[in-house]
Amino acid sequence: MTTNTSAQTGTVPAGAVDGDLLVVRDLVKHFPIRKGFWSKIVGHVRAVDGVSFNVRQGETLGLVGESGCGKTTTSRLVMRAYQPTGGTIHFRDRTQGWLDIPTASATQVRGVRRNLQMIFQDPYSSLNPRMTLLDIIGEPLMVNGVAKGSELQDRVAELLRLVGLHPEYMARYPHAFSGGQRQRVGIARAIALEPQLVVCDEPVSALDVSIQAQTLNLLEDLQARLGLTYIFVAHDLSVVQHVSTRVAVMYVGRIVECAPTEDLFFTPKHPYTEALLSAVPTPDPTRRGSRIFLAGEVPDASNPPPGCHFHPRCRYAADICRTTVPPLTEIAPGHTVACHMSDQLSLTGVHS
Ligand SMILES: Nc1ncnc2c1ncn2[C@@H]1O[C@H](COP(=O)(O)OP(=O)(O)OP(=O)(O)O)[C@@H](O)[C@H]1O
Ligand SMILES: [Mg+2]
Repeated sequence: MTTNTSAQTGTVPAGAVDGDLLVVRDLVKHFPIRKGFWSKIVGHVRAVDGVSFNVRQGETLGLVGESGCGKTTTSRLVMRAYQPTGGTIHFRDRTQGWLDIPTASATQVRGVRRNLQMIFQDPYSSLNPRMTLLDIIGEPLMVNGVAKGSELQDRVAELLRLVGLHPEYMARYPHAFSGGQRQRVGIARAIALEPQLVVCDEPVSALDVSIQAQTLNLLEDLQARLGLTYIFVAHDLSVVQHVSTRVAVMYVGRIVECAPTEDLFFTPKHPYTEALLSAVPTPDPTRRGSRIFLAGEVPDASNPPPGCHFHPRCRYAADICRTTVPPLTEIAPGHTVACHMSDQLSLTGVHS
């Protein structure tokens, strides 16, 4: 392990390497399931069940998996919208240095908040319909005492231009805009304070296909201009392929594979990744493999199968997979996988 050498105040977390901005270790979030008149706890949803990953300054980490696998819960834990059941989330704040988000003091969190922002999936419900664009985008600037009065208007005009909207729009309300335009407003608000890390939770899923590419291009353009770091959540690998530096694949509360994007797409090592990749459309028919249809449903996160959660749907499963949880292991530089069989399998990627 190399330690982070930048001049920061907090203690460098274990597992951090030079250039890391976020270091998540053994993150767990269990939601209680309550039943009956007395709201007795009858079980727990294991939404996030031991997740570890690093995010490097300036990169985009794609976080991918089927509905209910814990992507939004992970994002909300990073934003401190939830308190974890266990684990640590160390963030290298621009002014305060390394701090653990769940255990940081209220004062520390106030400082961190402006450096950590989120873009939401639904551009219709995430914007207050009673606020003008000036209020929506200007709010974080005002609350943090960054600008007011005409300076605030100038700054909002600049942000609107930055996301490709006319500054004259600032007096209008969200209902006057299309989904794609509203998402641009959400993006302008998120970047208003020049955050270090932006968590994008399925930012294009609710948009028309024709608008999706424009929005992704805007996010990439802003990343280059402002030096942003992204966690980019999606349920579809084809969306993250072009925007991610690295991709982490989640299945029922756990990361099953994490690798640089090309490695993950060309040489997947987890059978679940292979199945997801078989659904990625490719323009070249000669390279099109056969689609792997997974049998059964995504397991219930309150009662997941023992051993490897994926074993009931895995065509390569052996006895050990039914009883023993496979550890996330580095099998090539920067490529980790949680599969007992990975060294015996030759899986199909998108171009192989
Ligand atoms: N506040 C909550 N209370 C109880 N259970 C929850 C809560 N939030 C999420 N869950 C459960 O935790 C699991 C993970 O949910 P999460 O929203 O993180 O998944 P996701 O990967 O974001 O799914 P999607 O692709 O549908 O957005 C699901 O089983 C969900 O029902
Ligand atoms: Mg979600």
